[in-house]
Amino acid sequence: MSADLKKRAAAAALEFVRPGMRLGIGTGSTADEFTKLLGAKVAAGLDVIGVPTSVRTADLARSLGIRLATLDEMPELDLTVDGADEIGPGLALIKGGGGALLREKIVAAASARMVVIADASKVVDPIGAFPLPIEVNAFGLGSTALKIARAAAELGLDGPLVKRVKADGSDFVTDGGHLILDASFRRIPDPMSLARALVDIPGVVEHGLFIGLASAAVVARADGVDILSP
Ligand code: 5RP
Repeated sequence: MSADLKKRAAAAALEFVRPGMRLGIGTGSTADEFTKLLGAKVAAGLDVIGVPTSVRTADLARSLGIRLATLDEMPELDLTVDGADEIGPGLALIKGGGGALLREKIVAAASARMVVIADASKVVDPIGAFPLPIEVNAFGLGSTALKIARAAAELGLDGPLVKRVKADGSDFVTDGGHLILDASFRRIPDPMSLARALVDIPGVVEHGLFIGLASAAVVARADGVDILSP
């Protein structure tokens, strides 16, 4: 997505923000654009308090002077604004391309509303072309991967499950200290059944299917912005 479309979606999402709000702040390049615009508003006098969804977002928000709190200090939020890797029917999302899915999901679930920001290329039917990030405990990785593959096969899904690594070849480790398996199922026609099957597998910490969490999606196109509802 062009930087311009990311900014446009972020700017439109800023319209949802009201003074005094408790805000979940997402992770990723689109969420970064939102955080920067929010920082400018805060510098101009807007009073909000944010809960970041990653160490990366916390660093950026802090550098912009946005007041931050933890979910322990502020367990209920008014609004979360975050990006997505894919937006499907009913605003079922794939998230976690940036590896922050666990905190992103906890923060979204703690929020009265979640607004997703993206460009039109991320709106798809069905979801699944983007590899589904599955956060797993490092212990028993091989066994967990086998169980994931078998659960997927029962739903008619197959495809490579690849442990995420960094550019230097070392393991990608999440802020929570876990690993990520990226599952290339190509298409996921029934995200809810897959989500239910994945949470039942010991060793799976969380998965990047966000179902029933987004209340709106702000989707930027070259010639405007659409607001999608579930
Ligand atoms: C991070 C995420 C991001 O929201 C998702 O990967 C989209 O990122 P970007 O805005 O850079 O395309 O889920 O875990």
